[in-house]
This record gives sequence, structure tokens and C-alpha cells, in this order.
Amino acid sequence: ASMADQEARFRASVAAIGSVSAERRRTPDRQPAGTSFDNTTDADPALPEVRAWARERVRAQPAPLTSPVLRTTAEVDAVVARGRAAQPGWSTRPPAERAALLRRAADELEARRGELLTLMVAEGGKTIEQADPEVSEAVDFARYYADRALELEPGASLHTDGARFTPHVLTLVTPPWNFPVAIPIGGVLAALAAGSAVVIKPAPAVPGCTETAVAALHAAGVPGDVVQVVRAAENEVGQGLVAHDGVDAVVLTGAADTAELFCSWRTGRPAGPRVLGETSGKNALVITPAADYDLAVADLVKSAFGHSGQKCSAASIAILVGSAGRSERLMRQLVDAVRSLRVGWPTGLAATMGPVIEPPTGKLRRALTTLEPGEHWLVEPRQLDGTGRLWSPGLKDGVAPGSFLHLTECFGPVLGIMRAETLEEAIELQNATAYGLTGGLHSLDEEEIDRWLERVEVGNAYVNRHITGAIVQRQSFGGWKSSAVGPGAKAGGPNYVAQLGEWAMDGLPV
Ligand code: ALA
Repeated sequence: ASMADQEARFRASVAAIGSVSAERRRTPDRQPAGTSFDNTTDADPALPEVRAWARERVRAQPAPLTSPVLRTTAEVDAVVARGRAAQPGWSTRPPAERAALLRRAADELEARRGELLTLMVAEGGKTIEQADPEVSEAVDFARYYADRALELEPGASLHTDGARFTPHVLTLVTPPWNFPVAIPIGGVLAALAAGSAVVIKPAPAVPGCTETAVAALHAAGVPGDVVQVVRAAENEVGQGLVAHDGVDAVVLTGAADTAELFCSWRTGRPAGPRVLGETSGKNALVITPAADYDLAVADLVKSAFGHSGQKCSAASIAILVGSAGRSERLMRQLVDAVRSLRVGWPTGLAATMGPVIEPPTGKLRRALTTLEPGEHWLVEPRQLDGTGRLWSPGLKDGVAPGSFLHLTECFGPVLGIMRAETLEEAIELQNATAYGLTGGLHSLDEEEIDRWLERVEVGNAYVNRHITGAIVQRQSFGGWKSSAVGPGAKAGGPNYVAQLGEWAMDGLPV
């Protein structure tokens, strides 16, 4: 088939995927926030047409970058001033008009699905299967936050107590590299829905993804000075932007250390540092003898090795309870499943697991190459080529309570196994970390499920489901304990937009 035929079939497939996944994802909340019994998968398998199209495209050179690189304090000041000057024109538009623009942005993002996939593969090393649901998530954020914009309209639900909402004038969004479309654009869309102007500084590894996603917003009619994409030449320039007096709030998704740094740069402000976001995780999935082991192994492998374990939501510890920890069948299935992952560069399209973002150093290198006391490899990871970025997955048994792998976020393709005699002991191991982002339980026993949900300390608790791939609105996403910074409203949930401004009653803060 010619490229043009492929392109046409691709567009048709994309339309089909988009509507199916968007429809499914718009199902109203059926669970309390943070709790899901949902068994939907996060990825519609890419259709053959998509793969055929992608096979041609992912080898193409991405277009040159267009966002400015800031080098001086004066350039930072100018970007901030431009955003602040544009904001009144944006926030005084009726919320219905802002919402309509965001819905158009959803369509424009959908129309760029192919381009975005190409960029996520080229810049971020994502496989098509991992990249595709990210576009759906971005689209879902646009439609969901459009609805939230309407709630900020005078007289609408959030206003029934007489409180008045004033959006931040300028919001800075600093996203991570691991979700280079959905997370950046989710932050931007939320700030826009609130009525704020936005500056976004993409993660240095993946600027093209952000530029293309923001181009979709501009094509929908969001003015260029209301959303600006900028890069920073040096860390000091980035620091100047984060700490700038003209930036009212920073929406951060990144490591807990980065959040601490940002907060330190912004302390001393009358309103506080105003850094909001989601940070690190150290997430475990508990499997009890009452689990369906087939499902548990599939969900565990998906949670641990999707995007090579480089998700804040990824499972890096499995806790096997009682006889589950002594089950030869469970262990054999797990080892087989890990060995069957096909590792490779995503441009080849055969790989189920791609590269890590850079040659591992520090914590990840230690996790991939070292055994701590009591540990042994069930599947030993290997470096597969000279780039240092391609690693086969690792499965480590005998991880001890309180050890390095139990408590440290390593962000890569290593899964450790721990054992507990009772569910209570397993929950204690799960709660022992400083973080509280995601957690999972595999058990078909209602009473065990209730006990676990009562006690587990995580933002997103998943039962009989993989623990990555939260779905906008249905599973609003965010952390507990050291996995969150700021007020902690969850992304894709009902309060996220409303935290991007000030609430006041008769001039008094509420
Ligand atoms: N929202 C992403 C997930 O749930 C981080 O996996």
C-alpha cells in the first residue's frame, strides 16, 4: 500500500480508537476516589494499520524544535511578563467559551495522534502500545477539565457557598520525561480551565512531544501568549523561572528531591511556595493465596515492566502472602512471563519493552547490578547493547524488609519479591516506605479486600488490576505521604482545577 493509503487507513483507525477509548474513559465515577475495582486495560492494542503506519514514520527524523531557549534573566522576565499580560484577556472570557476551546483542543490532539506517537517513540523511547493510551489520556484531560471550567462559573456548584474563585495569573508547569504528552498537557489544560496563563518547560529529553501537544491547543484557538513553551539553557535559568515572583504556582510532576528543591527556591513568599504536584513512588502489589494467580502474574508484569518500569506508578515490589510465597506454579509463571518480554528499540515495533531513558547510574545501576544481603536473581538483567540504555528485565527474590530495594525508588526494569506470613504483615511492608502513590492487591476474598483497602496508605489503590494507567475521572491520580506536594488534589479528579487559584469570601480567604 502507498503511504497515502496507509495514512488514510491510519486516520480511520485512529478515529475508531479515539472514540472507543474516549467513550470508555468517560464513564462516570463508580468508585470512591482512589479506589478502583476496574479491570479495563489501559491500552487498546495498537491496530495493525497503526503499526504499519508507525513502522514507516517512527524512523523518520522528527521536525526541528521551535520553542525558544532562555539564556538570560531578562529573557525569563520577558516570558513571565508576556504571560501575565495575556492572562486577563483569558480569565475574563466566559467559562463556557474557555470550555469550548478546551473541547476543540481535545479534537486537535486527537488529530495529531500519529505525530505524537512518532515523537514519543523517537524522543522518549516509548513503545507504540505504551504511547497510544497517552494520547487518549491527553484528550480525556481536555474534555474533563473543560467540564470543570464550567463549575467555576458564578452560580455553578462550586460557588453555592458564596466563595469567590480567582485564578492564578501565571502557572508554571514542569513535567517529567516519562509521560511526555499526557502529564505536560494535563497540567496546562487544568491551568487554562482555571483561567490562568501558562508557561511550560518540557523535560529536556522530550521537548518535541510538548511542543506538538501545545501546538494542538494553539490550533484550537488558545492564544500563543496564554500558553508559552520555553526551554532553559542552564539549570540556573530554569531556577530563575521556578523562583520568579511573577509565577504564582508551579505544577510539578517529578522526583521528591526536585519538589524539595523547588519548595526551597520558593520559600519566603507570602502565599507559601505554592508547588503543587505528584512526586516519587515505591509501589508494591500484594498477592494472597486467594488470588487468581494467572491474572496476578499478568498484572504484576505489566505494572513492573511497562515502559521499562519508568512510571511513578510502577510496581517494583511484589509481596507474596503465606502459601502464595511457596507456590512453585506462581513462581514459574512469573519467571516465564518476565523472560518472555521482548526487549528492543521501539522503532523496530517488535519490542514489548523498550530502552531506559539514559544509561543507568546511581540507584538504578545498583538495583540492576548488585545483590543486597539475602537476595538472589530469578532473572538476572543484562545490558544488551553498547548504548547502555537497553536492559533485559530483572527479577530479584529474597528482598529483605528495610533493605535498599524495599524502600528506594529506582525507576527501571527491576522487580523485587518479598514474603509475608499474613495480609497484615504484607500491608505493614507496603506501608513502610516514605511514599504512598499506588498499590495493588490481588485477592478474590471480599473480606481480605476490605481489610486491605482500610489500611493501605496510597493515593491510588487498585484491586485485581494492574497498578499503572489511571483513567481520567474514573481513577483520579495522585499521591499520599511523600508522593505529593502541596494541597494534593488528584489529577483527572474533581478538585484539580479548583486548586489553581484563590478562594475568598468577602475578601477573606476561605
Ligand atoms: N498516570 C500515570 C499512571 O497512572 C502515571 O500510571
